[in-house]
Amino acid sequence: MAEQGRPSSLLILIFLVYLSSVSADTTEYVTAVGDPGMRRDALRLAIESWNQCNEVGEEVPRMGSPRAADCFDIYRAIPKRNEKNCSLCKLLPYILVHRITELDNRLAVGDPFPGLHAEALLNPNLYAALKELYLGAKCQVEDTPNPWQFWMIMLKNGNMDTFASRCPKNGHKVGPFGPDTAFPCFGKGCMNHPLMYHDYTTLQGPNLTTLKGRFHGSWDLDAVFIGNGNNNSYYSVTWEKEIGKGKSWVFHHVLRTSKRYPWLMLYLRSDATSGLSGGYHYPTRGMSKIIPESPNFKVRFTLNVLQGGGPNSQFYLIDIGSCWKNNGQPCNGDVTSDVTRYSEMILNPNTSAWCHPDNLGVCPPYHTFRNGTQVHRNDTARFPYAAYHLHCSPGNAEHLEEPYSLCDPYSNPQAQEILQILPHPVWAEYGYPARQGEGWIGDPRTWELDVGRLSHSLYFYQDPGTPSARRQWMSVDLGTEIFKDPDQVAEWTVSDLDIIVPKKMVTT
Ligand SMILES: *[C@@H]1O[C@H](CO)[C@@H](O)[C@H](O)[C@H]1NC(C)=O
Ligand SMILES: *[C@@H]1O[C@H](CO)[C@@H](O)[C@H](O)[C@H]1NC(C)=O
Ligand SMILES: *[C@@H]1O[C@H](CO)[C@@H](O)[C@H](O)[C@H]1NC(C)=O
Ligand SMILES: *[C@@H]1O[C@H](CO)[C@@H](O)[C@H](O)[C@H]1NC(C)=O
Ligand SMILES: *[C@@H]1O[C@H](CO)[C@@H](O)[C@H](O)[C@H]1NC(C)=O
Ligand SMILES: *[C@@H]1O[C@H](CO)[C@@H](O)[C@H](O)[C@H]1NC(C)=O
Repeated sequence: MAEQGRPSSLLILIFLVYLSSVSADTTEYVTAVGDPGMRRDALRLAIESWNQCNEVGEEVPRMGSPRAADCFDIYRAIPKRNEKNCSLCKLLPYILVHRITELDNRLAVGDPFPGLHAEALLNPNLYAALKELYLGAKCQVEDTPNPWQFWMIMLKNGNMDTFASRCPKNGHKVGPFGPDTAFPCFGKGCMNHPLMYHDYTTLQGPNLTTLKGRFHGSWDLDAVFIGNGNNNSYYSVTWEKEIGKGKSWVFHHVLRTSKRYPWLMLYLRSDATSGLSGGYHYPTRGMSKIIPESPNFKVRFTLNVLQGGGPNSQFYLIDIGSCWKNNGQPCNGDVTSDVTRYSEMILNPNTSAWCHPDNLGVCPPYHTFRNGTQVHRNDTARFPYAAYHLHCSPGNAEHLEEPYSLCDPYSNPQAQEILQILPHPVWAEYGYPARQGEGWIGDPRTWELDVGRLSHSLYFYQDPGTPSARRQWMSVDLGTEIFKDPDQVAEWTVSDLDIIVPKKMVTT
């Protein structure tokens, strides 16, 4: 017995050491994105514009299909051998070589490019999706475990012309209807994309060491058409960085709504580098070379909100997008059964919780505390109502618990489910703001959010008895949605964005 005792106590010792190392969170993290912390001088950036149901519909004349990019490499002037005084090196220390030309960016339906197939040549929706892949191929950076392409700026116009019959209802084609006051529209053509102007990244500043570029434009296409008002809708994203300093790019965003375009969105996204991304039913290109999956990922970034965008600006501290079917299976592009799933924390302190004991239909059926305890929404003593702005259910869910509220059936190519949360102590345990006002105007912060664990705890609808869906978040976005509120301006900067996952979860 004594002989056998020694090895077993050694085993117990090893086991205890193992336990303590697990409990002391020694998890080693690696980045899930191609450009961790936005520190890479040779930027990879693209822009896309969506209509109300995340399609193109119709291109803006002379603007091209609404996908464009700014991707460049940097070369350093090296003195020739034995050349002590390289005057060229002083004059032009760096040279930028752009990978995307103006011709690429202005590609419009009817223009051929490598990878385009006949069916897409004259179809604005398919054309844009393939143009994104084409731009992605030109911007692609080889890496492990996967290549990646670009950060993505996303624009969306919330107008919908219900008479144009352009957006499906929960993924099913519907005929013209209306008028429907739920959707702003000034008449024919209200679903248009914006003008898209591009200042390619150049070297600026007294020493030509500041990298700077910009995309900007307006949805109000014709100043004569809109009369004398100078309150046009507007977006601008400027990016800037000192070369070679190892600091982050700073992305400066401005979004302005107008009478004709009161519902606009502007986000900076880290999308999947292949497959579908959140809310988009075509193959996509992006920055997330590893798709973060609940509960094992965190998101870091610095956010400085300069102007809020008014009381209806749903400023998303973070917005994550995924897709799975109501039976828990992953999406496969069949829009009649795929369901987009979004979760968003709304940072704007002007947003109040719609979920409260007298309005249970917009609360999720239950809340799960960090320790795993679940409380039903009818438990008025314990349910954290103020933590929830709104939960809406997919229009194709068949076993919803009463009362419920269905999500907008038109604003995605397929049905969607949205869970919007607000700053609250129950989320502070995951690194999110505990109180409204934290991280808002005048309070810039660097966040490290345990998005993986928080999103693991959230309620999302599934058919009873079906195996839990894998919660893989193909899109991680930051930015604002100004909801039906004209003449509002939001302004903010984003830097240092990174998504990290435990090293042991990465399979190469
Ligand atoms: C280097 O070149 C600059 C002009 O480009 C000149 O003013 C300077 O005197 C030169 N220095 C040496 C050491 O040759
Ligand atoms: C430009 O270079 C000079 C000399 O190296 C330096 O003193 C100055 O700070 C630089 N200016 C900027 C804006 O980087
Ligand atoms: C929005 O919030 C700010 C700061 O909390 C407050 O001063 C303002 O009155 C609010 N406006 C509305 C319309 O609620
Ligand atoms: C779990 O956390 C909630 C909220 O903090 C608390 O009310 C509850 O008692 C906890 N349950 C257990 C089993 O610790
Ligand atoms: C609360 O909801 C649960 C689950 O639907 C139900 O079992 C329970 O009876 C409800 N309690 C009250 C007080 O309505
Ligand atoms: C323009 O917008 C500002 C608010 O940004 C508003 O005060 C002004 O009345 C608007 N002007 C017109 C002509 O609509």
